[in-house]
Amino acid sequence: MPTITAQGKTFDCKPGANLRRALLEHGIDLYSPRANYVNCMGIGTCGTCAVAIEGNVSKANWRDVARRTLPPHDPQKSLRLACQTQVLGDIKVTKFEGFWGHESATAWTPQSSD
Ligand code: FES
Repeated sequence: MPTITAQGKTFDCKPGANLRRALLEHGIDLYSPRANYVNCMGIGTCGTCAVAIEGNVSKANWRDVARRTLPPHDPQKSLRLACQTQVLGDIKVTKFEGFWGHESATAWTPQSSD
């Protein structure tokens, strides 16, 4: 079973699990406070579920790549859209500040909630 570490919690998920669903099911603050109410619910269009991931996940699909080419995201950054990502091995997740999670300051890290 792959292990996800995010915002000070570590939990298991099924191989191939959708990262957005796994994080939300475990009470992780995937979205910024305002984006928590205004997001695309996982269809890959809003870009607010962006996170940094260390570990083995699926390759970025076209929705993930396409949305991250649009501002304020920067395709040069190594973020991923959690809603378009499957967990394949143990991973660590970091969330950044900003409505889209696009800023350079961290909102939370794998080990801590701030
Ligand atoms: S939830 Fe909107 S792009 Fe992931």
